[in-house]
Amino acid sequence: MISKCLSVNEQGNLTIGGADTVQLARKYGTPLIVYDEETIRNNCRMFRTSIEKHCSSGGLALYASKAFSCREIYRIINQEGLGADVVSGGELYTALSAGFPAEKIFFHGNNKTEAELQFALKNNVGRIVVDNLEELKLLNNIAKELVRTAKILLRIKPGIDAHTHEFIKTGQIDSKFGFALETGEAFTAVNTAAGFSNLELTGLHCHIGSQIFDIEPFCLAAKVMTSFIAEIKQKLGLVISELNLGGGYGIKYLGSDNPKEYPEFIECVAKTVEASCGELSIDVPKLFFEPGRSIVGPAAITLYTAGSVKTIPGIRTYVSVDGGMTDNPRYALYKSPYEIVVANKADKPRDFVATIAGKCCESGDLLQENAPIQNPEPGDIIAVLATGAYNYSMASNYNRIPRPAVVMVNCGEDRLIIKRETYEDLVRNDI
Ligand code: LLP
Repeated sequence: MISKCLSVNEQGNLTIGGADTVQLARKYGTPLIVYDEETIRNNCRMFRTSIEKHCSSGGLALYASKAFSCREIYRIINQEGLGADVVSGGELYTALSAGFPAEKIFFHGNNKTEAELQFALKNNVGRIVVDNLEELKLLNNIAKELVRTAKILLRIKPGIDAHTHEFIKTGQIDSKFGFALETGEAFTAVNTAAGFSNLELTGLHCHIGSQIFDIEPFCLAAKVMTSFIAEIKQKLGLVISELNLGGGYGIKYLGSDNPKEYPEFIECVAKTVEASCGELSIDVPKLFFEPGRSIVGPAAITLYTAGSVKTIPGIRTYVSVDGGMTDNPRYALYKSPYEIVVANKADKPRDFVATIAGKCCESGDLLQENAPIQNPEPGDIIAVLATGAYNYSMASNYNRIPRPAVVMVNCGEDRLIIKRETYEDLVRNDI
């Protein structure tokens, strides 16, 4: 199994966190997203302890909550001592409403609205990661009106072209995010920020992309960023004391994926920063990392009920399930690979090849093509593995399909953390 929290019990059923997935499907209905709490907590601890061990000037992991945002996840992240990265007023609201400490929140986004910035400042959000010059001016004005100083980081494009899907790489010059280094835009931004009386520039941020397996591009980005910190000190006499290197560590979606252990990432990157700072004779900054997928991705599965099993002779077999792109648009968007298991036949060999289709009126509504699974029959419980990141958070109501329920399991015990949407929910805002 691709994740330690998954196993097969005596009945031949797939289990997650010690809970029988067939029983969970029966109890809560399908589609159902099930998270294992222990996996989430262990992942948090792994980041926390390796940062404590390897970052000589201190640091903090900020959970990138776009991967999965709801009150319960912010509570768990807070209990584990992590900070959070939010990218919208909505994520910020959810975090605050769960009692997440505002000072440990970093607010991102390439087009934050005036209302969002006001909301963030009024609630004393820890840092605002500023993306562009308009935002810099706007934020300074809002801070002035509110008679306070906003602590900011500037989002920099370090010019690193990471090997990942076109839509999820962000560090190269042609990206909508941040200030480019090559063009001098980043230096101008630092200079401008330093001149604003109601902003305090504490640090720099970069994020090179997502689902990246290599450590090398992260180390390269770290070197580029430390050199820029040295340049700022030399030319402007400004000390940048915080460096946020974003997230993006790849996870195991398939048995053949082989991501590095995350402590290895942290150690390598922290050592690179330290060595680079030594060479440049600058103080080592406090380091921040923003893991999203690697905290929650491997911790969940999605359970569906199979409806029709349609074989087109000589072509393929479609297994249609009661969810699809509305709860997991990642195959439709990125052709993302997933492992699929018939949960009530998990002890049987996966010797059948099927295309798993969703229920939307859309030919592209597929969860996976040509996936090896156990012999499928209508009524089977189909489990898609490693769906904890960017599934529920990217879910939609296309075709007016209600969003699924989300359950958390812990050592065999289950509890509902997000209710299933109802038809009444769907018409709630209709006039
Ligand atoms: N920090 C920043 C500034 C980011 O933009 C992101 C992800 C992260 C951290 C977290 O990256 P992670 O550790 O989760 O890779 N919807 C896509 C992923 C988009 C990622 C956007 N930014 C997907 O389903 O693969």
